[in-house]
Amino acid sequence: MSESQNQSQWERVGGEAAIKAVLDRFYEGVLDEPQLAGFFESVAVDDIKPHMAEVLQVVLGGPGARTDIDLAGYLTEAHADLGVSLSDFELTGKVLLDTLEEFSVPDDIVETIEGVLATVQPFVVAA
Ligand code: HEM
Repeated sequence: MSESQNQSQWERVGGEAAIKAVLDRFYEGVLDEPQLAGFFESVAVDDIKPHMAEVLQVVLGGPGARTDIDLAGYLTEAHADLGVSLSDFELTGKVLLDTLEEFSVPDDIVETIEGVLATVQPFVVAA
């Protein structure tokens, strides 16, 4: 097995510093979208930065990632009152995937994240 296969996807993206850079860019992209910016008007940008970081750490196998998170319950509760539509969700996913492409994130890691997006959609999108 090659060294790269022994590393977690989290490490192969470049660890915490790289994830932070990706997320900075991702939130810039989100706030640039008039359809999405309104959701984050009353939330401080620094408070929303860790928003997806924790989830990505779990998904990509980062060190110290929590294993006790009930993702369905957590995400459903976090978004319950926001009224996120399917279109809002899809646009957010597009901004994320565009950001991953900008950072030349390897295809298998992009596929992992696409899978997660599909999984969490019902928890984030309002019924
Ligand atoms: C793509 C999948 C998504 C994931 C994994 C995700 C993850 C999260 C997490 C973990 C939190 C909780 C942060 C905390 O407890 O402090 C959160 C909050 C939030 N999310 Fe998401 N989110 C997603 C999609 C979206 C979308 C599509 C929108 C709206 C367009 C959105 C808007 C928000 C807002 C506004 C908050 C803050 C709620 C508040 O503190 O009042 N999220 N998200």
